Amino acid sequence: MPRYRYWTATTLDGFLADEQDSLDWLFVQEQDDAPGTPGRYDDFIAGVGAVVMGATTYAWLVHHLKESGEAWPYTQPCLVFTHRTFEAPGDDITFVSGPPARHRTALERAAGNRDVWVVGGGALAADFAGAGMLDEVLVSIAPVTLGAGRPLFPRPFDLRLRDVGRNGAFVVASYDVVGAR
Ligand SMILES: NC(=O)c1ccc[n+]([C@@H]2O[C@H](COP(=O)([O-])OP(=O)(O)OC[C@H]3O[C@@H](n4cnc5c(N)ncnc54)[C@H](OP(=O)(O)O)[C@@H]3O)[C@@H](O)[C@H]2O)c1
Repeated sequence: MPRYRYWTATTLDGFLADEQDSLDWLFVQEQDDAPGTPGRYDDFIAGVGAVVMGATTYAWLVHHLKESGEAWPYTQPCLVFTHRTFEAPGDDITFVSGPPARHRTALERAAGNRDVWVVGGGALAADFAGAGMLDEVLVSIAPVTLGAGRPLFPRPFDLRLRDVGRNGAFVVASYDVVGAR
């Protein structure tokens, strides 16, 4: 069975993005892409069989790709939770709605023997956790506070620290999800 992994960058005060959905605070941080470095994207994505994200994250990503001229970055099937209608820039993007459990079978079939990456946002990750569909939270914590923005995880859950490392300016921490408080 695949693991469900919420892998994201966050500010020290627990925000994924500012109130305008900007990640300006993130892209200025020093990162280390050397093989074996904790929190390295290439190592993480190699173990991912399916990708899940909410509509705001998807809209941000598509906008960013259009601006930069880059192609859709995932070869894995991607499920986007939304009530809206979007164009899809890639072949294997499916728009779904409703509780995560409704899509569990399809997601796990898509992931095969690899993991499900819950990209975010925070409320969607918490919905997955509430459905028993979140095993791990893997965060790269940037040395910045925003005071407000899109929360990392807006519901009370207990986690158990598994590992801590460093990547450039980031603290990289991994947690097992214990359960709702
Ligand atoms: N720091 C990072 O590495 C990182 C990682 C991920 C995301 N981000 C950023 O953080 C922000 C996250 O935005 P967000 O907190 O608003 O979260 P989001 O999960 O990206 O989007 C929330 C929206 O998804 C749709 N949705 C969620 N659950 C649904 C369900 N069960 N059924 C149908 N639709 C559902 C709803 O939109 P509709 O009803 O309008 O369709 C909801 O308003 C974005 O700016 C993103 O770019 C940053």
